[in-house]
Amino acid sequence: MPEHLSALLSPPALANSSAAAPGSNLTAGEFGRVRDLIYRHAGIHLPEGKQAMVYSRLSRRLRETGHRSTASYLQALESGSGATGESEWQAFVNCLTTNLTSFFREQHHFEALAEELRARRGQAMRIWCCAASTGEEPYSIAMTAAETLDTPAAVTAVTILATDIDTQVLATAERAVYASDARGLSAARTQRHFQRGTGRNAGLLRVRPELRRLVQFRQVNLMGQHWPTGEAFDLVFCRNVMIYFDAATQHAVLQRLHAVLRPGGLLFVGHSENFSSASTLFKLRGQTTYVRI
Ligand SMILES: C[S@@+](CC[C@H](N)C(=O)[O-])C[C@H]1O[C@@H](n2cnc3c(N)ncnc32)[C@H](O)[C@@H]1O
Repeated sequence: MPEHLSALLSPPALANSSAAAPGSNLTAGEFGRVRDLIYRHAGIHLPEGKQAMVYSRLSRRLRETGHRSTASYLQALESGSGATGESEWQAFVNCLTTNLTSFFREQHHFEALAEELRARRGQAMRIWCCAASTGEEPYSIAMTAAETLDTPAAVTAVTILATDIDTQVLATAERAVYASDARGLSAARTQRHFQRGTGRNAGLLRVRPELRRLVQFRQVNLMGQHWPTGEAFDLVFCRNVMIYFDAATQHAVLQRLHAVLRPGGLLFVGHSENFSSASTLFKLRGQTTYVRI
């Protein structure tokens, strides 16, 4: 099992029945094994009732790896045998993550970001976007920097580290190619920050190179050992990922986020995430925006 996927937390209880889970072709025992594995590797808590979704996502892996049953796939995955070797762990995780995102999702965070950028103009600003998915979020941060700061030197003082556990979405993010009707993009932003595809790329947009250069992509598992090191971050965007974690995992991640953010730094979280229980670490500053204590 790859080290970066190592477990930090104990698994939830395993289901232990051979009966098919309702609404899917997974037995309750197989669903329990999948739940246990994804929880231990990614901290993702799959609630009961997700059997059909899990089955539909795993069936593609079964086809691609030539396994005729979920039981044989899971056994090969766990033992790391045959064609289902180390890289299959990554494919397994990739297929179970949910990657929904869009440009300028939760607009008020980008207004707060612009305010911070104006207040700290001329100073280096380190931003971590730790569940970056297909890139819309880190590029929205980069667009905000380009629109807020007036000189190229001020813009390049902003560095954005964009990470995710899912290597497939990170590859998409690095390509920086989006549909021209991508959600959340205004005509003015499309014009300013993107190159338009022509010929067989008609209908596609690519983020301009000067903006792409502000963002560095890397795989980081929030449950893993290899978090970014070095100078503390000024801002962290950790949005719509902790909803997949249980309360104990959320608290463990918040403690680690506290350690990598500078005092007074901001933590932006998703619209349905509330961490007021971690009041010794973060203080609510505005809608889903916390200050690191
Ligand atoms: C719903 S998307 C949110 C994307 C973006 N932050 C937003 O709010 O639009 C959740 C992302 O979290 C990532 N993720 C899930 N578990 C993770 C983990 N343990 N470490 C890092 N990223 C994880 C998924 O791969 C997915 O891309």
